[in-house]
Amino acid sequence: MAKITFDGIEVEVEDGTTILNAARKIGGNVVPPAMCYYTPLKGSGGKCRVCLVKVTAGSAKDPRPMPKLVASCITPVQDGMVVENTLSEQAMEARKGIVEMLLINHPLDCPVCDQAGECDLQNLSYEHGTSGTRYEEDRRTFDKIDIGPLIQLHMTRCILCYRCVYTADQLTEKRVHGVLGRGDASEIGTYIENSLENEFIGNVIDVCPVGALTDKTFRFKNRVWFTKPMDAHRECETPGCCGKVVLWSRGEEVLRVTARKNEYGEVEEFICNTCRFDKKEMSDWIIDGPRHIARASVIAANHYELPVINPHLVPDLPAHVVDTQIQDQN
Ligand code: SF4
Ligand code: FES
Repeated sequence: MAKITFDGIEVEVEDGTTILNAARKIGGNVVPPAMCYYTPLKGSGGKCRVCLVKVTAGSAKDPRPMPKLVASCITPVQDGMVVENTLSEQAMEARKGIVEMLLINHPLDCPVCDQAGECDLQNLSYEHGTSGTRYEEDRRTFDKIDIGPLIQLHMTRCILCYRCVYTADQLTEKRVHGVLGRGDASEIGTYIENSLENEFIGNVIDVCPVGALTDKTFRFKNRVWFTKPMDAHRECETPGCCGKVVLWSRGEEVLRVTARKNEYGEVEEFICNTCRFDKKEMSDWIIDGPRHIARASVIAANHYELPVINPHLVPDLPAHVVDTQIQDQN
C-alpha cells in the first residue's frame, strides 16, 4: 500500500494506483478532470493533459518535487508522495491553457449539439475557460464523411482522445476506424468509408467526451435536460451485453437508450446495439427507477442531489473544499 497526500488530504491506496484514481478515492471537487482516460478501456489516458497536477514531493524516499506537471491519469503513486491539484496555482493555470487549446478548433455549437448538457468539454470550459479567444488563424475544417446509419461523426468537435478507437478495438470483433493523419491533420476516419455497424460499436457514442460521435436515432429530437432518465433492464441475449441501461424519455416516448455511467462519466457496463437502437418501447424494458445523476452536469440540476465527499475517507477536510461543497449544495 502507498500513502499519499492529495490537496492536503491523506489517502491510502494499492501500489501501482494512478494519482487520478487515488484522488477519485477521496472524491468531490479535488478530483482532476479527465477527457481521454477511461477506466474500462486499456491503454487510455495520457493524451489530452487536462488532468495535469503538481507533485510537490515525489516519495518518502526521494521527497524532491517533480520538475514538471504530470498527467495524473498515467502517473502511479509512490509512498509518501505529495500532490497538489486545486491547491496549485501552476496546475490551475496549465488546465486553463489546455482548455483554451482544446477549444481552438472546437466549434461553439453547443446550442445545436446533441451532447450539450453532458459534454465534458462544455463543463470544463465553464470551469476553466476564458470567454475570449486569442486564436486568429483559420479553424480546421473537414470533408463530411458518413460512418453509417447509426452514428453521426462531427470531426470538427473531436478532441482526438482515442476513446472511440480503444472501444472499437476492445469491444468489437473488427475495428474499422482509427485516427488517420498526423499533427493538425489528424482525424477520425474509416479509410474507405466503412460503416461502423458492429454489434457493440454504439458504445463509441457513450465514451466520446464531446459531441463528435452522436446517436443518429436521437439527433435533434430533444435537449437532454428535458428528458427523464430512468434505469431499466431487459434479458438481453447478445453475449457480452449486460442489458442494463438508462432510458431517456418524455412521457411514454423513449427518445434514446444509453449505457449507465458513473460520476466520472464512465460507462459501468457496455451494452449492445440491439438494446441501444432497437428497443425504444417502454414495454421492451423493466423499469428499475429514476436514474441518480452523480456527475456535475446541467442534467443533474433541479433533479438530483450533487455528489458529496465521503466523510469517512476525509476526516480533516480542508476548509476550501468544504466551502465549495456547501456552495454547490446550495
Ligand atoms: S470522436 Fe470522440 S471519442 Fe473519438 S477520438 Fe474524437 S473525441 Fe475522442
Ligand atoms: S485524462 Fe489524463 S491526459 Fe487525458
